[in-house]
Amino acid sequence: MKAVVFTGAGISAESGLKTFRGDDGLWEGYNVEDVATPEGWQKNPELVQHFYNIRRKAVLEAQPNAAHKALVKLENKFQVTIVTQNIDDLHERAGSTKVIHLHGLITKAQSSLDPSLIYDIEGAEIKMGAVCAKNSQLRPHVVWFGEPVPLMQKAIDECRKADILLIIGTSLQVYPAAGLVNFAPYHAQKILIDPAADELSQKGSGIQNLAERASTGVPKVVDQLLKVK
Ligand code: APR
Repeated sequence: MKAVVFTGAGISAESGLKTFRGDDGLWEGYNVEDVATPEGWQKNPELVQHFYNIRRKAVLEAQPNAAHKALVKLENKFQVTIVTQNIDDLHERAGSTKVIHLHGLITKAQSSLDPSLIYDIEGAEIKMGAVCAKNSQLRPHVVWFGEPVPLMQKAIDECRKADILLIIGTSLQVYPAAGLVNFAPYHAQKILIDPAADELSQKGSGIQNLAERASTGVPKVVDQLLKVK
């Protein structure tokens, strides 16, 4: 049996990482266009670098929570693929073995000339002046608004094979990522775990809602799935 788990910022909220669209959302104080678009980077790379350097520090200091950890247990019974919109590495640090990062990974750097050149970062900062093998400035390995999502097709292929689809902590507002849930087969069991689940999921979508925080909702759902023969 195959389980695909689609996660968003909400799963890391209880690890102390801010979501994007909450009252106290991550963009507060910053204009999205300035820090998360190729145009913003062209205009002011120092500002963009600074924004992600601060976020990277927060990610490195954060720890996986009960929800990330529960998903690791799911691997005892299912073939699990995690498709995350998150740029933190908390799924990997919890122990999940197959994670697709649709929007990149903040702990890595990429060439600003050739996105296929990806590097580990030592410490929390990418410094201005640090360059790739082609001598262009290193930038965060993050997919910005207006950029292609290179792993989308791989994620769709995984989703098409799902017997179970868990959707956790995402407002399902950012495309193409949010469209992923439509690729799960009709017969797949689909569960949305998010405190705002009742407002988010569309009627007739065949998705069961669990309007609960990830740290309590995910362990409950995982325990149930592990019990069923
Ligand atoms: N547990 C579970 N879900 C939670 C929790 C929690 N403790 N706290 C908040 N949430 C839910 C909110 O109800 C909301 O539905 O997390 C969701 C967060 O939504 P967004 O902030 O929109 O984050 P996300 O859906 O991941 O954003 C998608 O947008 O800006 C881009 O690239 C960025 O990957 C990101 C994408």
